[in-house]
Amino acid sequence: MRVLITGAHGLLGQKLALAFGRESRHELLLTDLAPRTFFINNRFDYQQLDITLLADVKSLVSAYRPDVIVNTAAMTNVDACEEDRQATWRLNVDGLKNLMIPARRIESCRIVQLSSDYVFDGRSAPYDEHSRPKPVSYYGKSKLAAENALLTGPVAGIVVRTQVLYGTGYDVRSNFVTWVLEQLEKGVPFRVVDDQRGNPTLADDLAFGILQLLDRSCSGVYHVSGPESLDRFSFARKIAEIFGFDPALISPTTSEEIGQSANRPPDSTFITLKFEAACGERLSDTARGLGRMRQQLRDGASHTDLLSDSRFH
Ligand SMILES: NC(=O)c1ccc[n+]([C@@H]2O[C@H](COP(=O)([O-])OP(=O)(O)OC[C@H]3O[C@@H](n4cnc5c(N)ncnc54)[C@H](OP(=O)(O)O)[C@@H]3O)[C@@H](O)[C@H]2O)c1
Repeated sequence: MRVLITGAHGLLGQKLALAFGRESRHELLLTDLAPRTFFINNRFDYQQLDITLLADVKSLVSAYRPDVIVNTAAMTNVDACEEDRQATWRLNVDGLKNLMIPARRIESCRIVQLSSDYVFDGRSAPYDEHSRPKPVSYYGKSKLAAENALLTGPVAGIVVRTQVLYGTGYDVRSNFVTWVLEQLEKGVPFRVVDDQRGNPTLADDLAFGILQLLDRSCSGVYHVSGPESLDRFSFARKIAEIFGFDPALISPTTSEEIGQSANRPPDSTFITLKFEAACGERLSDTARGLGRMRQQLRDGASHTDLLSDSRFH
């Protein structure tokens, strides 16, 4: 397969590059906003691409003629999305549409669109792929609009909904686990909400799951997440235990008390049976996922063959 990845410098993008890169039968083109990449493996081509610029997207996609586009590029800061709705729509919805325009002219081309548990209101969990979306934030609305654009449009594809993505990578944005680790390292007590619940998902596993879905020519919507549903407070205590910190540093609070600007679903637990039945796999539970992440942090330079900087974990 000729695979084009957007947002390849993000957490999931990096893991996808590593997952696809391990398999020599795939040809990869990584793209992101930066003019240059930190990936050095010569099997990875890289080109700068802003998916909000239609002319650039058209010329790159038409020239490369990918069999698969995995669109991970997105505005992912849920509170920032609430503040800047125009920019959110331009990237999260119009960006996908820009990819669909040249992709429809390539017969074999499929798109994998990353989506989120935030398409649900969190009041009637657990959710499967037939559950009715009802977003309570602008981020959730934009992700749902993108899903609908792909599912009703002319390009075949897969909508992969995931949640509470965590992992380590080169220069990636803070995620829940890295944020909790930063707090624990300070050794100062801190609070974490206990009224937001969902399935933590190791980014490496999600990348592997996407590869499995593509290999099996799946289409439609899939929930791909870790198997356990945990509230954030319990998850944070688990992180402390597995990384050898004192869980007593963490105490519970509520969403109302911390006052985030975007609403969050209180419980967006996923049912992942459709994915498991299609691929015969279950993603890692938190003990295994966090253990793997801890090992990657310890190994530090294990991916230097792929990246130009040993700070990649
Ligand atoms: N993180 C989660 O918990 C979570 C949960 C559910 C679903 N998802 C979805 O999963 C996907 C991947 O998430 P992630 O956590 O890996 O995201 P991420 O780390 O924020 O990566 C997104 C990447 O896209 C790039 N980007 C931003 N604007 C772009 C543009 N106009 N054109 C091309 N690239 C652009 C970013 O570059 P800069 O860093 O330079 O801006 C970044 O490298 C997203 O679609 C997200 O909505 C994430």
